[in-house]
Amino acid sequence: MKQIIMSGMRPTGKLHLGHYLGVIQNWVQLQDQYECYFEVADWHALTTKYDQTKDLKQDVKDVVIDWLASGIDPEKSTIYVQSLVPETAELNIYLGMITPQAWVEKDPTLKDMARILRSKDSNAQQINYGLLGYPVLMSADILTFNAHAVPVGVDQVAHIEITRDIAKRFNHLYNTDFFNEAKPILNHCSLICGLDGQKMGKSFHNDIKISDTEEVTSKKIMSAITDKSRLRKDDPGHPEDCEVAFKYWKIFADEETVKNVECECKAGKRGCADCKRQLGACINEKLKEIREKRRYYEANPQEVDRIIAEGSQKARIKAQEVLSEVKNIIGMY
Ligand code: TRP
Ligand code: SF4
Repeated sequence: MKQIIMSGMRPTGKLHLGHYLGVIQNWVQLQDQYECYFEVADWHALTTKYDQTKDLKQDVKDVVIDWLASGIDPEKSTIYVQSLVPETAELNIYLGMITPQAWVEKDPTLKDMARILRSKDSNAQQINYGLLGYPVLMSADILTFNAHAVPVGVDQVAHIEITRDIAKRFNHLYNTDFFNEAKPILNHCSLICGLDGQKMGKSFHNDIKISDTEEVTSKKIMSAITDKSRLRKDDPGHPEDCEVAFKYWKIFADEETVKNVECECKAGKRGCADCKRQLGACINEKLKEIREKRRYYEANPQEVDRIIAEGSQKARIKAQEVLSEVKNIIGMY
């Protein structure tokens, strides 16, 4: 029996290289060894964007297209949409009953989200009941499949801690060992920063999207910061102070190329503009296959719809098994 993996993303629209390198690449590697469930968390999107639902469906689809393009294989993994698996909402009720208020209130990720929400909208003085329930709902996602492990970015680890606590509490209260204590799986490749050297994010306008064209990618790369102390192109450069461009080289190019860039830069034999032109070409080459696949799915939206429908149906079958066991353990009718 394969161990079970569950993970998800909120439908924030088209994904960027931070998602790809930080999370999706990890999923792609795990899907051979594990039984995987990958969820587009549209209910979680509603916890903060309940009043901005116009593009929600398209955003869900765009996320799935990016996953498929990146190599998530619907023959190996189950791709589904959260709201199409209502069993999770029912499990959320049972978990909510046993989760102390203090556990959700101290959740650091939630505190961050509330802070950001307030800074964006001064009217949002309060957070809604649904947002407070974010970590419980995420626990319900994970426990819907009784997952053993959850591959995520570091920002999600606190949520998984709560999931383990809830699982332990359930087991203790109902005198069972039914729920596994899911472990986070972190990606050890270094995090890619944005074009400005800050964290890469859609709202910071410093990201490169999987779906960007080659032209857009090249243009964005030309705006990446380099060694700021360098005035002329034949000044000796300092790759270690080249905050973005050289870091990208290290992520996308092979060792020999990186060595070469480093030597030429230090010797003042490489201008930054040329360097970034080459870097853009290198990144475009790496993303070529993914982007081709993306265009295929974009042109065949009915195939994406079929994958979502079939995956969600498959997820429900597993979810129903777990839920009926949970109800049985609690002693429901
Ligand atoms: N909270 C996650 C994020 O913002 C998304 C998510 C929802 C998730 N449910 C999950 C991640 C279950 C892992 C497991 O990225
Ligand atoms: Fe960075 Fe390349 Fe310029 Fe050197 S030449 S500082 S590695 S962009």
